[in-house]
Amino acid sequence: MEKIIIAAVSKNRVIGRNGIIPWHIKEELKHFKNTTTGFPVLMGRTTWESLNKPLENRINIILTTNPDFSFSHPNVVICNSIFDALSWCEENNYSKVFIIGGEQVFEDTLKVADRMIISELKFDVEGDRFFPQIDLNEWELVSSSDKSEFVIKEYLRRK
Ligand SMILES: NC(=O)c1ccc[n+]([C@@H]2O[C@H](COP(=O)([O-])OP(=O)(O)OC[C@H]3O[C@@H](n4cnc5c(N)ncnc54)[C@H](OP(=O)(O)O)[C@@H]3O)[C@@H](O)[C@H]2O)c1
Repeated sequence: MEKIIIAAVSKNRVIGRNGIIPWHIKEELKHFKNTTTGFPVLMGRTTWESLNKPLENRINIILTTNPDFSFSHPNVVICNSIFDALSWCEENNYSKVFIIGGEQVFEDTLKVADRMIISELKFDVEGDRFFPQIDLNEWELVSSSDKSEFVIKEYLRRK
């Protein structure tokens, strides 16, 4: 099963501010939706709290260390570790899982991800959550697609 990090990152590497994503780019949201629909999305509890409801047509896996956390919805799965979350996806025969943030979850999964799809915004943003620096000794840039406000870059882990 392929483990794919997907993120939108400002020029100065910001991904969030005060618990939300501090920009609204329709074209980027559309790309995120088109890419992830049909597959499980794995997110931290803080990112989950920034959504009003589960992302549609995707199993939403919420990571939390709180064993009492619950949310009753057919498309929501709660896991207490990354290992459990990835095992759940494998047991349910998914070919891919998208890791959708936030900062803590990206940091925790950078070592296990196979691929990254990063929307690199063309401008700086003020923020308090960041995406880690991408080490090009570990990651190979395999495609780049230019949009008006961002560039979608795809990286594969080097063998
Ligand atoms: N630009 C983007 O692409 C993008 C995407 C997603 C989110 N964001 C932004 O990122 C920010 C949130 O990031 P964040 O770092 O504050 O929070 P986060 O990564 O969304 O969530 C952190 C929480 O997830 C749980 N968690 C994380 N790793 C875990 C693990 N290995 N095992 C079990 N539980 C784990 C913990 O929950 P408990 O405390 O409950 O134990 C932890 O407090 C927001 O501003 C959000 O809008 C940006």
